[in-house]
Amino acid sequence: MPEKRYVVTGGAGFIGSSLVRTLIPHGKVSVIDNLLTGFERNLEEVCSKIEFHRADIRVFSAIAPLLMGADTVFHLAAIPSVPRSIDDPVPSHEVNIDGTFNVLRAAAEGRVRRVVYAASSSAYGDTPTLPKTESMRPMPKSPYAVQKLVGEYYASVFDSCFGLETVALRFFNVYGPRQDPSSQYSGVLSLFMKHLLARTAPTIFGDGEQTRDFTYVEDVAELCFKASQAEGVSGKMFNAGNGGRFSLNLLWRLLQKIEGVEIAPRYGPPRPGDVRDSMADTASAIAELRHAPRFSIEEGLRRTLEWYRQAL
Ligand SMILES: NC(=O)c1ccc[n+]([C@@H]2O[C@H](COP(=O)([O-])OP(=O)(O)OC[C@H]3O[C@@H](n4cnc5c(N)ncnc54)[C@H](O)[C@@H]3O)[C@@H](O)[C@H]2O)c1
Repeated sequence: MPEKRYVVTGGAGFIGSSLVRTLIPHGKVSVIDNLLTGFERNLEEVCSKIEFHRADIRVFSAIAPLLMGADTVFHLAAIPSVPRSIDDPVPSHEVNIDGTFNVLRAAAEGRVRRVVYAASSSAYGDTPTLPKTESMRPMPKSPYAVQKLVGEYYASVFDSCFGLETVALRFFNVYGPRQDPSSQYSGVLSLFMKHLLARTAPTIFGDGEQTRDFTYVEDVAELCFKASQAEGVSGKMFNAGNGGRFSLNLLWRLLQKIEGVEIAPRYGPPRPGDVRDSMADTASAIAELRHAPRFSIEEGLRRTLEWYRQAL
């Protein structure tokens, strides 16, 4: 049987580059990325084992030939930030909605077997009920949350109208190696790591008691692969979280303890579009995708910190 071909859009980014490493033992891997927030260095030690295409998902003709005939397309390319989608909504709309439509259309026309779509827990918004279950009505609070939700709806409609198998995974706050800490839009844990190692105070927006279901990137990558293989799940959406929640204050305390330092954080005003609490109900992913996260928060933080210590 010919080797399966997997395409990862956004494969030079934080989560995509981890997924690429998970996929390499299973087949041929191609990456599509325009390097907006991703880096070729994220793929450095695996670059001889993959194909890299610098291409923009907003340009259908550039990506359609690259998707043709693939077994699975993992669609992760996006402008993935709530505040950035508020500061500058047009590019994130174009990439996250129009780009996603292009990827799904190219996959359907190119006879791809399945698309696994990186959706976002931000779709749940601020509904008070925890944990968040997949059947809850979405309440997006930011352009980014709307855009990711539209992608989910499109994925399910490409399944029902165009015969393309799709699975959407709502990622909860993902953290781990290769998350870029260099921008004001960077994920909170990457910024915590940077400040911890530099022995400087991070800024926490709000009172720091907001909670998140932090999920280690290798668990997310493994879940993406399982979503590409599972049977009877096409057209569905699943939470991709850990099933726990930690406040930002607690996380900063944990990190200080691991590192043996004491650094009081600064506090800034709450950011518009941020949700207060988030935690995944993981029952469906466990039952239908046979997924159980392997990494506790302590283990994930230790591994992540070690990586930043080497990298920074
Ligand atoms: N990190 C999280 O906690 C989290 C949570 C929920 C959902 N997600 C989703 O996971 C996916 C990956 O996020 P990430 O955290 O790895 O972010 P990232 O910024 O590291 O990765 C996104 C990648 O997409 C690429 N990209 C952007 N615009 C593109 C375009 N027009 N054409 C081609 N490539 C383009 C970037 O260069 C980058 O490599 C995104 O779809 C994001 O919405 C992430």
